[in-house]
Amino acid sequence: MDKIVLEGGTQLRGEVELSGAKNAALPILSATILSDSTSVIHRVPNLQDIRTMVTILESLGAVVDWDKDQGTIQVDPKNINKEEAPYELVKKMRASICFLGPLIGRLGKARVSMPGGCVIGPRPVDLHLKGLECLNVKISIEQGYICAETEELRGNEIFLGGRFGSSVLATANVMMAAVRAKGLTIIESAACEPEIENLAHFLMKMGADIEGAGTHVIKIRGVDSLHGAEHTVIPDRIEAGTFMIAAAMTRGDVLIKGVDMAMLHGVNDKLAQAGVKLERKDGNVRVTVPNDLSVVDVITLPYPGFPTDLQAQMMGLMSVTNGISVITEKIYPERFMHVAELNRMAASISLEGQSAIVKGVKHLNGAPVMASDLRASAALVLAGLVADGSTEVHRVYHIDRGYENIEEKLSKLGAKIQRVKE
Ligand code: EPZ
Repeated sequence: MDKIVLEGGTQLRGEVELSGAKNAALPILSATILSDSTSVIHRVPNLQDIRTMVTILESLGAVVDWDKDQGTIQVDPKNINKEEAPYELVKKMRASICFLGPLIGRLGKARVSMPGGCVIGPRPVDLHLKGLECLNVKISIEQGYICAETEELRGNEIFLGGRFGSSVLATANVMMAAVRAKGLTIIESAACEPEIENLAHFLMKMGADIEGAGTHVIKIRGVDSLHGAEHTVIPDRIEAGTFMIAAAMTRGDVLIKGVDMAMLHGVNDKLAQAGVKLERKDGNVRVTVPNDLSVVDVITLPYPGFPTDLQAQMMGLMSVTNGISVITEKIYPERFMHVAELNRMAASISLEGQSAIVKGVKHLNGAPVMASDLRASAALVLAGLVADGSTEVHRVYHIDRGYENIEEKLSKLGAKIQRVKE
């Protein structure tokens, strides 16, 4: 296993180019199996999760050609003959659940391992199953697998709101099955995330009839067949937010290139309140902190609210900002594994239910810390950028799942960071 070693104290300065969005690329790659002709997807980040996705596509019978330098993946799905996404692959990546919809859309049946829980909490799939059952799919759970079958997909009106609001991948799964259903499907309380809108745009290029993607009501009229298409993945808004927070924490001056600020409303609002200056210029944003930072309270919500995937990073910023901030996690109430590790670095954070009370400290102290999940590990790297002395982040395979070349990108901005074989 590798670890990332950082020496704190440098201000990040310079330019950084965003990679394609992991959470758009994953469902888009699964959607390629809905046709019998080849699709070409551009700006796919070179990440562990994408490698897992490619392995599953090949295990189903697809032929995949991945040009990692170009960031282009070509998928030829015509020989797909299996309907199973196996446990040993699904346990590596919960997002494999997004094969459920396209397998049913293509074959009328699917056998996908139930994603277990993970450190950010249980990962229920009740909304996925409810949505598919509404489309005339019979669902059973056998030996830890979701077994789904239908004689004929039929359009329906589906309410997909759950205890925590909308569901991103449940919306994706239902949409990817509904494009091949007979008649009209209306998804109410659909997820509005930009990644869902990007998926819908790809499906429409394949010949699907979809309206309302990016809003809470999506209408889908089923079609008899879909064809392969060429598509470019949107830039990663969570990576953008991570670098914006890193620039703010180090009081640096960073130009983030290729960011669509319209996808970061909730983040821009909170960072501006905290005193971070965001200057938009030709599709880029320059991040500086002209005066002192102020603490802000944060509540994570479905899009366009503050994203749960930036909660840990924002906690890092608040932990070195004078004052007290309350960070409440409404999407994954247990998503606080980073708190104990930040406290090992002399942060002062206490948990009260699904809220963290963050008392800003003048300095963090470098320490060996343990990554636990993708975004928590990003928060620990950011903390290491500002901590006194040396920080070692162990188990960085977590970070490799969602950030492409993070140490190169940070090093180019002046960070003292290196990856070391453990
Ligand atoms: C997507 O996961 C993202 N992953 C997550 O990013 C992200 O945190 C999450 O959306 C929320 O924005 C991908 O897109 C691959 P949800 P998803 O279904 O779709 C509950 C990262 O770090 N729920 O929107 O699995 C669920 O427990 C990852 O990149 C149900 O109750 O999340 C959660 O509390 C982590 N029943 C809430 O809804 C269901 O059937 C939102 O989950 C499904 C979900």
